[in-house]
Amino acid sequence: MNKILQNSILASNLSKTVLYSIEFKLLMGLSKTFSFFVKPPKEENDKVLVKHLQEGVIKLHKEDARNIDEGYYPLDVIKPKSPFMHLKNLPYIIYDSLKISRRRKLNRKKDLENDLITAPDYLKRNYHFQTDGYFSERSATIYEHQVEVLFSGTAAPMRRMLIKMIKEKLKTKSSLKILELGAGVGSASIDFSKSFDFENYVISDVSVPYLNLAKKRLMSKNKNESRLHFVQTAAEELPFSENEFDLVFSIYLFHELPKDVRDKVLSESHRVLKKDGVFAFCDSLQVNDDPRLNSVLAQFPIDYHEPFYKGYTLWKTQESLEKTGFHEINSDHKLLSKYWLARK
Ligand SMILES: C[S@@+](CC[C@H](N)C(=O)[O-])C[C@H]1O[C@@H](n2cnc3c(N)ncnc32)[C@H](O)[C@@H]1O
Repeated sequence: MNKILQNSILASNLSKTVLYSIEFKLLMGLSKTFSFFVKPPKEENDKVLVKHLQEGVIKLHKEDARNIDEGYYPLDVIKPKSPFMHLKNLPYIIYDSLKISRRRKLNRKKDLENDLITAPDYLKRNYHFQTDGYFSERSATIYEHQVEVLFSGTAAPMRRMLIKMIKEKLKTKSSLKILELGAGVGSASIDFSKSFDFENYVISDVSVPYLNLAKKRLMSKNKNESRLHFVQTAAEELPFSENEFDLVFSIYLFHELPKDVRDKVLSESHRVLKKDGVFAFCDSLQVNDDPRLNSVLAQFPIDYHEPFYKGYTLWKTQESLEKTGFHEINSDHKLLSKYWLARK
């Protein structure tokens, strides 16, 4: 165990948490100042709950440092993003936070400029009240930064916790065929592509602008370029044949889907997996995983328009996985995220 390395990683992670927390406070302050015109999200004032969350953040960052030290993923997953891009995006994020709060005030959920989007109907809305929903380049450009502001810089470590769990579950460890569903702008794909030994890694999402940005980010300077593939598809209708992949996974996809679509994604994932292949996903915590956070789970979909979130938090996931034909099912949770793994 390398204590110096672990403490340096912890310091780096905590500095990101401090930065994004300051930005969150800034946006909250702005919303409150203009509250005659916009509606700020609910501010958490319960001191015991805030302390519980802060302790959870530190625990998560320490675990991330241990995982790196133990070699589950490489050190460069913590490499800071370009400060230039960060500063470049910030003014638009500040401006957009007011537009988001205005939509929240007016309860405007289908405020999309582009009527020609090819996507399932349930998706044609402003998830999180965000401008353009998932369907523009400008939304894609600021998405990852906005998520980190919301989660105080813990989204990236929460995502990559799944890497360790998958590595412990996989029977085959090399030349993997991997499929990622709902990959967004490639926030997890970058870390996953550095952590697994794969023959093919298919990165998919239903949103063209999000997938385009993922491609741009992963294809620049990635030594695995020729083995990365980008496919625009809905996760419930996969354009792949049976028994193709060793691993199918998603991050923060399921809470966005209606129940019937969640079930279809499970059966499609099962279909395209090889026998003994692993299905895994990371998503929001579910009700009673950490009872102290039930109030946070109840407030989130109200503040950040998430029409299917409540259903997801109550979803009998184990039952659905079993019904689909998965076995060796296990789950775990860390801070605000939950992880499910199963075998075909
Ligand atoms: C909350 S974001 C998560 C993105 C990414 N996995 C991450 O960790 O940041 C959800 C993503 O799922 C995509 N998505 C939503 N419904 C989908 C569906 N039915 N099929 C495929 N992708 C979908 C959205 O376009 C969006 O990029």
